[in-house]
Amino acid sequence: MSPAGLNVSSGGHQGVQEHATFRILGIAGSLRKSSFNRSLLRAAQQVAPDGVAIDIYDISAIPLFNGDVEATGLPESVQDFVDHIRAADAILIATPEYNHSVPGVLKNAIDWVSRPSSGNPLRHKPLAMMGASGGQFGTVRAQEAWRLVFASGIDPFVMVNPQLMVNNAAQKFDQQGELIDDDTRDRLTGFIEALVAWSERIHGRSTSVLSTH
Ligand code: FNR
Repeated sequence: MSPAGLNVSSGGHQGVQEHATFRILGIAGSLRKSSFNRSLLRAAQQVAPDGVAIDIYDISAIPLFNGDVEATGLPESVQDFVDHIRAADAILIATPEYNHSVPGVLKNAIDWVSRPSSGNPLRHKPLAMMGASGGQFGTVRAQEAWRLVFASGIDPFVMVNPQLMVNNAAQKFDQQGELIDDDTRDRLTGFIEALVAWSERIHGRSTSVLSTH
């Protein structure tokens, strides 16, 4: 992994899209190597329309938030995260649910970039969240908790619908992390298209990436 924190960069049906016109920054809220949520982002890369790239950002280098450290300047890994969020056309979070709420590692990363709220890189950025869990409810409570977090003044433009909760994840991904459930793949495809459409409305421009799909 480069210090930049971007360890996977591809998307679209034809694989890597260096010249994609629309770039989504995917962030998994799990550091686990076999994370279902990272696998869900990889599946999103596969179903993204031509012209849309999903880059997966690795938050593992981000330290625990410490106001004393913040007062002396952002650590390099945090600044890198900020820069990648700023450069993205949209943000796609794949969140686990921990104890009916958000996972601490991702909450910590978001806390770092949330200040000051008026200049934070997520402000007015199109954002969608999805999630996979081993349980029945597929991160519905974590996603609700994230909505509360984002309404605190961070203020991304959160896509309200459609929603994507992947429950019983162990049955929907194989041992290699490939998504093997056709219904989930179809819903994921629609979800990514909806995020692009939502973002285009916010940016006030059309990338035309949906017209060919
Ligand atoms: C969980 N898990 C879990 N699942 C769920 O549906 N609701 C929950 O409240 C919790 N709580 C919870 C707490 C903690 C500390 C852990 C470690 C796990 C199970 C969780 O869905 C499962 O571990 C997923 O596999 C986590 O996502 P990744 O790591 O596969 O992306």
